[in-house]
Amino acid sequence: MANVTVIGGQWGDEGKGKIVDWLSSRADVVARFQGGHNAGHTLVVGDQVYKLSLLPSGIVRGTLSVIGNGVVLDPWALKAEVEKLTAQGVAITPDNLQIAETCPLILPIHRDLDALREDASGQGKIGTTRRGIGPAYEDKVGRRAIRVCDLRHVDDLGPQLDRLCAHHDALRAGFGQAPIDRARLKQDLAEIADFVLQFAKPVWLTLNDAKHKGSRILFEGAQGVLLDVDHGTYPFVTSSNTIAGTAAGGTGLGPSAAGFVLGIVKAYTTRVGSGPFPTELDDEIGQRLGERGHEFGTVTGRKRRCGWFDAVLVRQSCAVSGVTGIALTKLDVLDGLEEIKICTGYRLGGETLDHFPAHAADQAAVEPIYETIEGWQESTAGARSWAQLPAQAIKYIRRVEELIQCPVALVSTSPEREDTILVRDPFAD
Ligand code: IMP
Repeated sequence: MANVTVIGGQWGDEGKGKIVDWLSSRADVVARFQGGHNAGHTLVVGDQVYKLSLLPSGIVRGTLSVIGNGVVLDPWALKAEVEKLTAQGVAITPDNLQIAETCPLILPIHRDLDALREDASGQGKIGTTRRGIGPAYEDKVGRRAIRVCDLRHVDDLGPQLDRLCAHHDALRAGFGQAPIDRARLKQDLAEIADFVLQFAKPVWLTLNDAKHKGSRILFEGAQGVLLDVDHGTYPFVTSSNTIAGTAAGGTGLGPSAAGFVLGIVKAYTTRVGSGPFPTELDDEIGQRLGERGHEFGTVTGRKRRCGWFDAVLVRQSCAVSGVTGIALTKLDVLDGLEEIKICTGYRLGGETLDHFPAHAADQAAVEPIYETIEGWQESTAGARSWAQLPAQAIKYIRRVEELIQCPVALVSTSPEREDTILVRDPFAD
C-alpha cells in the first residue's frame, strides 16, 4: 500500500502546504485527522494563492477530501471557507468533500472560552489562535460535545445542550459572563445543520473501501510534533495529538495505513505563540530569517519567532512520529549567511542533554550547544537538483540528516511546486 502521512516536524508552519499540494495531486484521497481551523496551509497553484484552514488541501485539485473524526469542526468556519474557495473557482460538493459524522463541533461558546482564558492569563497565556480548539477538545473527552451527527436531530438536542451549557455557564460565571442563550444556540445550529449534513458520511467506511481498492491515501497533518499535547512543549501546545500515529485514530483506519511518514522540517526554526524555544534569535539574524522567510502566521497574521535549526528537537520529533524521511523546506532563506549554527545538544545545570527535558521549567532553562558551519553566498532559490546547490548547502543538509538520524526525501527551494529536489518519492515506497 502506497499511502503517505505528512506531519510537521517542528512548531507548525514548516511549509506543509506546498508539499501536501504536490502529493495530493497524485493521491486518490486526502484526509485531515486532527486539529481544526487553527491550521493555515497556503497553496500556490499557477497564479492563484489558496489559504486553507480546515479543508484538506486536496480540495483545490478536486481530489476526494475527507475530514476525519479527530478534527474539531466549526460549522460556520466551514461554510465561510467553502464560500471563499467557491468564489475562487473551486467546486466543493458532497462528491469531493466528506466529513465524519462523529466530528465534535466547535461552537461560539468554545471561541468565547478560549478568548476569556487567554485574556485572563497574563504572562501565562498560551497564545492560542482563539478559535475554540482547546475548549472543543475538552468537551469531546468530557463527553459533552455536540457532534456532526447530532445536527440530524436538532429538535432533540435539549438535554445535551442543557448538560453542555450547565458546564459552560459555571465557567463563564467565573469570568463574570452572562449565561448562554440556549434558544439562540439551538436556532443557530438548526440554521447551519443542512449545510454541514450534506457532507456528513461514515468516512471510516469510505477510507476502508479506498484501502481495499488499493487507492492512494494522503493523511494531512496540521500544526507540528512540538505542539502535540503529549509530546510537545506542554502546556504551550495545541489540544490534539499531532504525531503521525493519530492518522489512524483520527480517521478510523488502522495503524498499518500510515504508509510513508513524511516529516516537513524547515531549514531553521520558527514558532508562533508562547513557550520555550531554545534556539530563538533576538538579534539581526533572527530578524533577517523572519523577513526573508516571510514569517507571519497564515491564520492570525502574528509575527513568528525565528531561530537556528534545532537538531535535538527534530530528532525527537522524528522518533516519536516514526518519520520515514523528511522534506527540508525554505533552504534558500539561509542563503548569504557567513556562518550557520545547528543546535546539537543542551546544557542544563551543569549537565549535557541529548534530548528535550519534559518539565516546562527545564525546557525554558536549557541552553543550546551549537555547532557552527560555514554558510554559502550563492542562491539556492529554485534549485531542482543537487548539482544546482552549492557544496556548503549540501554539507549542511548532510549534517542535518546525520544529526536527526533521518534521511532527506525532498528539499524545497521556493514556494513553486517544481522547485523541489526529489531524493525519494514517498508514494513510490
Ligand atoms: P490552539 O491550537 O489555537 O489552541 O493554539 C495552541 C498553540 O498552537 C499556540 O501556540 C498556537 O500558536 C499554536 N498553533 C495552532 N495551530 C497552529 C498552526 O497551524 N501553526 C503554528 N502554530 C499553531
